Amino acid sequence: MAKKRVMSGMRATGQLHIGHYLGVLVNWLQMQDQYDCFFAVADWHMLTTGFAKTEGLRENTRQLVLDYLAAGVDPAKATIYVQSSILETAELHLILSMITPVNWLQRDPTLKEMVRELHLAEDHVSYGLLGYPALQTADILGPMGELVPVGEDQMAHIEISRDIARRFNHLFGVDLFPEPQGLLTPTPVVFGTDGRKMSKSYGNDLKLADDEKSINSKVMSMVTDPARLRKDDPGHPEVCMIYNGWETYASEKAPEIATLCRAGEIGCVQCKRNLAVQVNERLAPIQARRRELETDPGMLDDIVIAGNARARQATQETLAKVRDAMHLNQPYNRT
Ligand code: TRP
Ligand code: SF4
Repeated sequence: MAKKRVMSGMRATGQLHIGHYLGVLVNWLQMQDQYDCFFAVADWHMLTTGFAKTEGLRENTRQLVLDYLAAGVDPAKATIYVQSSILETAELHLILSMITPVNWLQRDPTLKEMVRELHLAEDHVSYGLLGYPALQTADILGPMGELVPVGEDQMAHIEISRDIARRFNHLFGVDLFPEPQGLLTPTPVVFGTDGRKMSKSYGNDLKLADDEKSINSKVMSMVTDPARLRKDDPGHPEVCMIYNGWETYASEKAPEIATLCRAGEIGCVQCKRNLAVQVNERLAPIQARRRELETDPGMLDDIVIAGNARARQATQETLAKVRDAMHLNQPYNRT
């Protein structure tokens, strides 16, 4: 039997942080060994909110490809590509938009949250932003993605993808599209330095590319147990962001830290320093790979060109079937 298709992507909005890594990428790394994976850089999706400020888009796209590779996505196993290079995705999006009820999109809680969190003015909530989940559905169904490893905030969009796939199959009496399934990692939510969900827009993130010095100062700024005034006061790890960091970044050491903390046998400054060492250790191999890749920009281009060709081929095959199922004209001008 053919391997299951996996499709996922991230928006090209800037450098990735540890929340992306633990919340999404660790699944990609695992899945590339078992499945036929398509991982896109979603540069069109960046336009849904960022249409007025696009000068960084090309560089961000490059950086995101680098982040994928540095994190360990292997182009020999997975198809890495750029969303906007697959022109057929735009056609599929257009077709799917015709069968997608507006109120499915209006109800999407993640879209509502984006409008709220980004304080988007009414004239910034565009037709394209409303169509965000429909475009994402075109991304997924283009290569017939069945499994979609994403962050928690994306699950609402994928529910809509399932509904659109089901509606298509039902309307046209076919069994063409799989109903894609979202997939979370064991740590779907990672907390940032201020105790809120780690997010670039909150400015509380630890970036994959942060050097040792910035990780150290970010970790030192994290809030600990406020009731602990002296170093030998018994601590309460359950209310401490540093302890949460231990559970997240070095869970095997967390029980020992909890014991030392409760007994007042470790000071918070020492505890923070030790945690920063752990984080830096986890980032070191990722950063080493990134530095190596940066020395060979031509290789990055070759990887994306090859990935684009594979993703495009898969999406073209899907589109031909979609046109047949719907009795649409096949293009007269192509061979
Ligand atoms: N919306 C996703 C995010 O913000 C990115 C994305 C675009 C995506 N197309 C996708 C994710 C298809 C999964 C499948 O991260
Ligand atoms: Fe938090 Fe560590 Fe201080 Fe305990 S010792 S309160 S776990 S920083």
